[in-house]
Amino acid sequence: MHLKRILVSLHALRPLAALALAGLLAGCFGDGKQSTIISDTDSARVILDIYALVTWITLGIFVVVAVLLAYALIRYRAREGQEGQLPRQVHGNTALELIWTIIPALILIFIAVPTWSGIFRASQPPEAETMTVRAVGHQWWWEFEYPEQGITSGNEMFLPVDRPVVVETTSDDVIHSFWVPRLAGKIDSVPGKDNLLWFTPEKTGLYYGQCAEFCGTSHANMRFRVHVVTQERFDEWVANQQRPPAVESAQAQAGEQLFVTKSCISCHQMAGQPLATGVLGPDLSNLPSRTSLAGGMLELSRDNLVEWILRPQEIKPGNFMNVPVPAGEAQAVSQEEAELLAAYLLSEPAEPGAQAEQPAGAAESAGAADGDGELIAEQIITQNGCGACHVIPGVEGTAGTIGPSLEGLSERETIAEGALENTPENMRTWLSNPQAVKPDSVMPNLNLSESQIDTLVEFLSEL
Ligand code: CUA
Repeated sequence: MHLKRILVSLHALRPLAALALAGLLAGCFGDGKQSTIISDTDSARVILDIYALVTWITLGIFVVVAVLLAYALIRYRAREGQEGQLPRQVHGNTALELIWTIIPALILIFIAVPTWSGIFRASQPPEAETMTVRAVGHQWWWEFEYPEQGITSGNEMFLPVDRPVVVETTSDDVIHSFWVPRLAGKIDSVPGKDNLLWFTPEKTGLYYGQCAEFCGTSHANMRFRVHVVTQERFDEWVANQQRPPAVESAQAQAGEQLFVTKSCISCHQMAGQPLATGVLGPDLSNLPSRTSLAGGMLELSRDNLVEWILRPQEIKPGNFMNVPVPAGEAQAVSQEEAELLAAYLLSEPAEPGAQAEQPAGAAESAGAADGDGELIAEQIITQNGCGACHVIPGVEGTAGTIGPSLEGLSERETIAEGALENTPENMRTWLSNPQAVKPDSVMPNLNLSESQIDTLVEFLSEL
């Protein structure tokens, strides 16, 4: 009677058990994005082989133990009339004890051999020409530095196919763990320590990674992606990382100004924005090359980027993306401003040399009458956000204090913090590439066209 009731209640649990099994299997297979049993590199296969060996051995042990247990339960159960009686008591059996000591010892040795060789394999980078990527964990995003290429990316790593890569990982705050299941085993990112992991990507494609060490509120939201691409695509990506966005539309130009003035630059970096020197958030150069936002939380799209700028805390609780709200204002960034920022951030990288030969709008009419020249100069000044750093007489909204006020500029003897004599020729040298004149200057290279520079030099000479 008792037994029947137990069986009935077990029956009721069946849907639950099926659900649990489905969950378990989804963990292994799922959509395969982060599968531990699909290996796409030698390094991952070494681990999978050991994993499979151990799984089969433990499954064998489980079956033997379960059968013996079932046999003992049935064979030695209390039969009718035996209640209260003790079975025959035995103490010690040397032969049995030897067997159950020696067999597990042999099994452990059997598992240890491939494990040791696997560990040595994993810790010895190949002799072939490797590429190094430094993966720095931050709460809650990844910074990928390419020391040989001199570039940095955030949350998405690009790798050339068939080239061994050494991932040097460390952390900027707490312990994280770098893990791309289909490419390699996981390795902890520990502050003050460089841990190495290497693998050779064999197939092009997109691979999904995840921080695998609990690191705070948004640990589960600390994802990342690895793009394995052809060498050609990789070289192109590297070049694009260094190119400023081609800010063409009026929206994108307004967005760039907001980027400089809305304190984005104190946490982020961006190609073509020497003022963007922040290290708290990811480098945003070449953002359109990525497929995700917010550390893998959102797919990259203009709408999602606007959402992210407006509501970072709702999307990724606890993260440090928190634009300060100016006194007396309800929010830091309005919907409209977020859209302008997105337009700027999603501008494709400028074609090489495009800026120099681009006689766009303002520049085209630069040769027009004097009054026009002034208007155009004001336009260039506004569009390039000069007013975020300088006070420029006659141009509205220029109130910056990072750079010198340009009042009375024409009467000064030198420009560029005393580096150059104040001549029109020097002014044009300075404006075309301030970094070349003074490498540590915070005056950004504005990528102005020749005619834009002409217009500005003319305008500035009259201040
Ligand atoms: Cu970083 Cu968990």
